[in-house]
Amino acid sequence: MKLSENKATLSFSNGKPSVDFPVYSGSVGPDVIDIRKLYGETDMFTYDPGFLSTAACQSAITYIDGDKGELLYRGYPIDQLATKRDFMDICYLILNGDLPDAAQKIDFDAQVTNHTMVNEQLHFFMRGFRRDAHPMAVLTGLVGALSAFYHDSTDITNPRHRHISAIRLIAKMPTLVAMAYKYSKGQPFIYPQNSLSYTGNFLRMMFANPCEDYVVNPVVERALDRIFILHADHEQNASTSTVRLCGSSGTNPFAAIAAGVACLWGPAHGGANEACLNMLEHLQANGGIEKVGEFMEQVKDKNSGVRLMGFGHRVYKNYDPRAKLMQQTCKEVLKDLNLENDPLFKLAMEVERIALEDPYFVERKLYPNVDFYSGIVQRAIGIPTDLFTAIFSLARTVGWIAQWNEMLSDPEYKIGRPRQLYNGASFRDIK
Ligand code: SDX
Repeated sequence: MKLSENKATLSFSNGKPSVDFPVYSGSVGPDVIDIRKLYGETDMFTYDPGFLSTAACQSAITYIDGDKGELLYRGYPIDQLATKRDFMDICYLILNGDLPDAAQKIDFDAQVTNHTMVNEQLHFFMRGFRRDAHPMAVLTGLVGALSAFYHDSTDITNPRHRHISAIRLIAKMPTLVAMAYKYSKGQPFIYPQNSLSYTGNFLRMMFANPCEDYVVNPVVERALDRIFILHADHEQNASTSTVRLCGSSGTNPFAAIAAGVACLWGPAHGGANEACLNMLEHLQANGGIEKVGEFMEQVKDKNSGVRLMGFGHRVYKNYDPRAKLMQQTCKEVLKDLNLENDPLFKLAMEVERIALEDPYFVERKLYPNVDFYSGIVQRAIGIPTDLFTAIFSLARTVGWIAQWNEMLSDPEYKIGRPRQLYNGASFRDIK
């Protein structure tokens, strides 16, 4: 970051001396006011619940311009990455800072492929869950449990240990997600197949069975690979901030990622794709397109407690660029699977059309986000609704671990420890 010629001066109306703060600029985007000395010089904190105006760290991984609806991974725009490269290229890019050349790609793909199996002991962890356990409950448990298996790479100050942890997590998430799915179906786990692509291997572990050969559908493989790319990283969102804060204590990387999985599960965050599809299916079952207008009135009524899932975003105050790409993928997959007349997709398009015209949504800059169409694509592929957020976790693992690694690579990093505005009881003795 570069020291700006500009500076910020904080002055007080009560005569307290004013304080100057340095201003720093990044490569692009808003400058920051460095308030690290604020408490020491003023005995006051800033107050920013939800961190709407707070930069918690420096990062060079992902840049979002919410007003322009722009998303860059290491400077490359998401639409070019999602249409020109595959998810393994994106994992290499997000982890290492640039796209791999041919040799680097072969080496990286091989590293990931050779870590896709999980320790057989994890099968026993699965046996403890109910068959109808939510996949995110299972995944939170399994990812945390990985901490118990890799004692050979626990020195987080060692870049090689951090690298192998990243490879293991990226490689094993598809295996764990597929295991959670198979367990819920009462079907045997399918082992990874090293001759397949990362995404093809995941599809086979999900949908193959030991009784017959499984052929990966290239259209579905491409669509799912694109879904992984669109979900790979997203700046300092809630789950990434959770991973950073958890990791800042020096804990095990698998434990930190398990914390990210737990946070992503929430319906305001990664759980929105599942909630969005449930919303569309409920709408479809209760009058469909004819009832959309009535439903939208409910959404606009604050007392209804009904939110339009898949709409709105803390940062994007324009169309989420991922939603556009997801809608395009939706059309391609539905066409290739002869599902073009999918009533749910038509319903989603009608909901979007109304929302984009209705002043309630326009004034609040509520546009479709990444979760609005992703559920329809995943449902068309045959992925059950309750697995959508687990798929999101699979894709977001590379972003989480890259941000975790970036934090630990900064010699100045400290354990995160926010303060508070206390408004509870002041000192009192027990009578
Ligand atoms: C993800 O941070 C990330 O980058 C996350 C993510 C990632 O890749 O990591 O992009 C993934 O989490 C996408 C968001 C998925 N969540 C949903 O789709 C759930 C539905 N959306 C919301 O709950 C909401 O829009 C948030 C949580 C996403 C953003 O909320 P904000 O920015 O805190 O906005 P807000 O709650 O303060 O709402 C502002 C206004 C309010 O109305 P007023 O008080 O001004 O009258 O907009 C309204 C809200 O009531 N509003 C909605 C709405 N979202 C906001 N009204 C109806 N439906 C909605 N979806």
